[in-house]
Amino acid sequence: MKPISVVLLGLGTVGQGVYESLFSHQQKLQEVLGAPVEIAGILVKNKAKQRDVSRSILVTTDIDELLALPQIDVVFEAIVGIEPAYTYIRKFLTKGCHIITANKELLAHKGSELTKYAQEQRRYLTFEAAVAGGIPLLRTLIQLLQVNGIVKIEASLNGTSNYILSKMRKEQAKFQDVLVEAQALGYAEADPSNDILGTDSFYKLMVLSDLIYHQQPKWNDVEKTGITNVTVPHIQLGEKLGLRLKLLASLTSSHDGIHAEVKPVFVSSDHSLYHVEGVDNGIAIHTDLVGTIHLQGPGAGAKATASAMIEDLVYIRQIKDTIAQENVRASQHHVEPTADDLSTWVAVTEETVPEAFHKERLRQYQINLIKREKLNEMEGFLLQGREYDILLFLQSLKLGLLTIYPVSPTGLPPYEKTLTHTLAKSIIN
Ligand SMILES: NC(=O)c1ccc[n+]([C@@H]2O[C@H](COP(=O)([O-])OP(=O)(O)OC[C@H]3O[C@@H](n4cnc5c(N)ncnc54)[C@H](OP(=O)(O)O)[C@@H]3O)[C@@H](O)[C@H]2O)c1
Repeated sequence: MKPISVVLLGLGTVGQGVYESLFSHQQKLQEVLGAPVEIAGILVKNKAKQRDVSRSILVTTDIDELLALPQIDVVFEAIVGIEPAYTYIRKFLTKGCHIITANKELLAHKGSELTKYAQEQRRYLTFEAAVAGGIPLLRTLIQLLQVNGIVKIEASLNGTSNYILSKMRKEQAKFQDVLVEAQALGYAEADPSNDILGTDSFYKLMVLSDLIYHQQPKWNDVEKTGITNVTVPHIQLGEKLGLRLKLLASLTSSHDGIHAEVKPVFVSSDHSLYHVEGVDNGIAIHTDLVGTIHLQGPGAGAKATASAMIEDLVYIRQIKDTIAQENVRASQHHVEPTADDLSTWVAVTEETVPEAFHKERLRQYQINLIKREKLNEMEGFLLQGREYDILLFLQSLKLGLLTIYPVSPTGLPPYEKTLTHTLAKSIIN
């Protein structure tokens, strides 16, 4: 089987974690992916740094050397900040690569634009590692959003701040002393400002807002207060009242829009974040149907972040295989290919689950609902979107008896007349 060829942008904490995990989990990955993963090249900033990297792998400071490689399937992006990461990701998408990134700052600023560009290029841009590191948060949210509305997120998303607050409480230690200790242990960076001023949590919250609500609140309206002014007496006062101080990141949707804030908040012992200690992250997801779901686990670190990024690789591979199989199945039904797959019109008939075609849900797949009406006693939905996205959406419904009909891609036709052949009688089976 042809190897899956990947490049790493960055070989710091995260990049090194991905590098090592690709080797340590080689066998397991090959079984899951059906092909070995081959690292074709690594981009770094400082070539003089000593690195423990196989000699057969190209290590370079020149992005063009990686772009010139003949075949790259997937790019792991783990460099810091917006530029040059943004430019590099666009170049690799243009080249036809899928992107897996951990870069929340870039995503908060440019996530929707890059996602749109990736969709135009028919490539995946995934970022499970960017929010709450090793916790499978984003995929859980995507799964929940299929049926649930997400009313509110309350989260402790910054391990450094949580570590400092936990340690200050347990040892009555001063903020500055714990910060120095956290830096020595590698929990806080040399420049910890993004963590302790709430900026890191803010970026993660904006990524969540994009994912859940397809928009962000105005950044100027978001309160962002870090933990730099927290003192031991503050924390002790809370303790006496049975409360613990957490750097709480919250995101709420209401009729007057999306509201987000990051600030230290006292939580009581019946709140799930009360028990999130040390460098762990915790998230409470309040939904309108299933109720509240709590997730907790390692939010950062080489292994946790690498785990999330490599799971993204498996996801991309599996979803691509599924689409390929669906396309083969569809072609076995002697389907004429659609003329313009950037604007495929498909009439879907489905009697039992009209709620599955809810606008919000369709929007997650970049699909528009153009028309809904009865077709020969059946409920009909005329959808507009790329064939690829529509297939993804239909596949997600996991319905047994769905029938879809391709319709002329050139504008809205009188589609009753075009129902001449079935794209796939049971494409979802
Ligand atoms: N650390 C975590 O636990 C964690 C968790 C989740 C997400 N993230 C995100 O993952 C990304 C990487 O974080 P990190 O902790 O691994 O950072 P890091 O340890 O500072 O590593 C950054 C890496 O990127 C390289 N680099 C930086 N600027 C570059 C440039 N202009 N051109 C080429 N290479 C460049 C550096 O090269 P040199 O080695 O030559 O200096 C280094 O290898 C960040 O966006 C971060 O927010 C980190």
